[in-house]
Amino acid sequence: MRNKVIFGNWKMNGTNAAVKEFLKAVDQSANNSEVIAGLGLPFTALSTGITNAKNVKIAAQNVHFEKNGAFTGEISIEMLQEIGVEYVIIGHSERREMFNETDATVNAKAKAILQANMIPLVCCGETLATKEAGKTIEWVNGQIKAAYEGITATDAIKTIIAYEPIWAIGTGKTATSQDAEEVCKAIRQNLATIYNQQTADQITIQYGGSVKPDNIKELMSMPNIDGALVGGASLLANDYLALVNYN
Ligand code: G3P
Repeated sequence: MRNKVIFGNWKMNGTNAAVKEFLKAVDQSANNSEVIAGLGLPFTALSTGITNAKNVKIAAQNVHFEKNGAFTGEISIEMLQEIGVEYVIIGHSERREMFNETDATVNAKAKAILQANMIPLVCCGETLATKEAGKTIEWVNGQIKAAYEGITATDAIKTIIAYEPIWAIGTGKTATSQDAEEVCKAIRQNLATIYNQQTADQITIQYGGSVKPDNIKELMSMPNIDGALVGGASLLANDYLALVNYN
């Protein structure tokens, strides 16, 4: 009943030439009828992505929540919409840790994106210290509660959540599928408390953190994991195709 959504996140990688070549290699085969395949690209390559992709959905990796004005270096929702972007990744741990993204800005961004009829991919996830303190679920639930503050159930079901434990990002350490499932299940229970079970059951939850072609199938077999947000492995055409066609 929920969409399966597998997105690459290229982070600060990808010239226009590289994006064009990559999509030439993957777009036609990224046509799995059971999976929405996507790619998060740097701002400068979004137009190239949209022009060269038929099957692959193109996502921005950030946006500012204000409409316009004196925000040097920022990109607005209207600017993304003008070039045909439909998805925006927000609250990635790299943005939270390095660029002062907070629960409050993630919430403001989610609201602004939904108001524009676009889809936010809302990232959450704990540090190794939080995990070792046994506080993962409490932490992640706090991030989700803050991100969805003031968002109606009707809008919430349009969103995607990406659970990405920070200690598993780019480290080769994947959470076991059982651990990832446990947190994704807790996120869904939290959504049921914020909204209701019916709403929670419709929200797509991805796992992210060292997802590779050899672990995607097991992760996707978990009842509360509906997709993946993939960094490193999504840069390689063969791996990307193996991921989005995992079934
Ligand atoms: O957003 C995707 C991400 O942070 C995971 O990266 O390289 O561990 O797949 P990676």
